[in-house]
Amino acid sequence: MAAIVSPTTNRVLNSNLAHKIMSAEEAAALIKSGDQIGMSGFTGSGYPKAVPVELARRIADANFRGQKFRVSVFTGASTGPELDGALAMAGGINLRLPYQSDPETRKRINAGEMDYMDIHLSHVAQFVEYGFLGKLDVALIEVTAVLEDGRLVPSSSVGNNKTWIDQADRVILEVNAWQSPELEGMHDIYYDLQAPPCRKPIPLVHPGQRIGTPYLQVPPEKVAAIVLTDAPDRNTPFKAPDEASRRIAGHILEFLNWEVKKGRMPANLLPLQSGVGNIANAVLFGLAEGNFEGLTAYTEVIQDGMIVLLRSGKMTSASATAFSLSPEKLEEVNVDMATYRERIVLRSQDISNHPEVIRRLGVIAMNGMIEADIYGNVNSTHVLGSQIQNGIGGSGDFARNGYLSIFMAPSTAQRGNISTIVPIVSHVDHTEHDVQVIVTEQGLADLRGLSPRQRARLIIDKCSNPDYRPLLTDYFDRAERLPYGKHTPHVLGDALSWHSRYLKTGRMLPQDPD
Ligand code: COA
Repeated sequence: MAAIVSPTTNRVLNSNLAHKIMSAEEAAALIKSGDQIGMSGFTGSGYPKAVPVELARRIADANFRGQKFRVSVFTGASTGPELDGALAMAGGINLRLPYQSDPETRKRINAGEMDYMDIHLSHVAQFVEYGFLGKLDVALIEVTAVLEDGRLVPSSSVGNNKTWIDQADRVILEVNAWQSPELEGMHDIYYDLQAPPCRKPIPLVHPGQRIGTPYLQVPPEKVAAIVLTDAPDRNTPFKAPDEASRRIAGHILEFLNWEVKKGRMPANLLPLQSGVGNIANAVLFGLAEGNFEGLTAYTEVIQDGMIVLLRSGKMTSASATAFSLSPEKLEEVNVDMATYRERIVLRSQDISNHPEVIRRLGVIAMNGMIEADIYGNVNSTHVLGSQIQNGIGGSGDFARNGYLSIFMAPSTAQRGNISTIVPIVSHVDHTEHDVQVIVTEQGLADLRGLSPRQRARLIIDKCSNPDYRPLLTDYFDRAERLPYGKHTPHVLGDALSWHSRYLKTGRMLPQDPD
């Protein structure tokens, strides 16, 4: 491995490529209206921070002059305000994929001003490689350093960077001096994933295993510009776990203990996948306080709770594609990156989320949801059926292929005016076939081995909020009395009435008949 670059030394060590250093403004000028751009970035980590801002400025200027200037933006997952926020604000995005969590972007998508494709994160790279999404014009990638021989040290996320660099006509690099130089050696970039019919088994049998190289490769002639930056990732603080999150975490821990007792899992469990959001983080904190040892993770993002587990020694290794840390945790990790490098592997997202590997390792998938219905179908993405919240992310990759698939949410949202357990979901991301366990602060429903009607009784009894339980029971009782379908009974005319009522009155509960 090449010598680790120190933050004080020049991070563009290749003399041919050093000639391509220019300002962000000059680099942004290389992007044309209509370009499809593959950008780095995953859950607020490792996204380009200077060129998108300049690009947004160019777009705003062009729009001001009455010229239409829009680009399509593909990333790993969510980014930060300097990328999604700035480009959305400028009205500069034509098509966005595969995941976002930016308020301005969300607003534009839901206003119908921006097209958005919400796709499984494991699909993105291969969709581009197979040509399903057209030609990629530009790759805009943040890296930690450019080594003497031209190899690239990735930064705090890997996402689809390998594919963007391979597929794009021209590459713009942002070399960010803020990223810890000790990241060098943490990544594992696998270059042998051929397209079918030549695809071979991925030789990964343990979360901590390395099967590739720590570096990204770029043909030097493709590099159109290098921009030097020194700017932090968007690191959002996690909320301290509230009572509902703690209770959800408690139910999951009790369940995992039971699974071990029943001999369905080893004492150190199976590799954990933990989704985005505060509840998922609370579960990890719960595990840190629990008695499990020798844990591993095969997941998408390394959150605060996972760092706590790694630091305490309860977790021995973690594989992901990105960090997603609060500012305090990031500081802690940056100081000690060399130690974490021994136990964390950051991979491309087509490997971190690969169905083959997830199924082989037997991952325990734990993801948040917006709502679940009485039969166990889960909506992770759309509020009231139509408004996108974030996107499916990797939840489908892990839920469908994991050893066990758990979905969790508080039993109500919006100050109790919405029940997260409903007669029928208003949008389906994970069908009843992919969902084995549903958890709210009220309790946990283990749906394995149950028929639809058995599942409905259990979900209502264990997971629904007491304010809504009688209404769900009444709905299900009426559905069961109907003659036309006793397998998965519904009262079709009423199934979505809770959502309609909320839209009309601001509450899912009916008005008191006074
Ligand atoms: N109806 C309407 N709004 C709802 C709702 C429902 N059933 N359930 C949640 N919401 C709202 C909340 O009120 C909150 O709104 P606010 O921002 O106005 O306060 C918002 O949705 C987020 O809910 P919150 O409880 O803060 O959830 P979270 O941070 O735990 O995130 C998901 C929950 C589902 C949005 C999140 O897990 C997600 O995006 N999942 C899909 C992607 C995924 O699973 N990725 C991981 C794969 S590795």
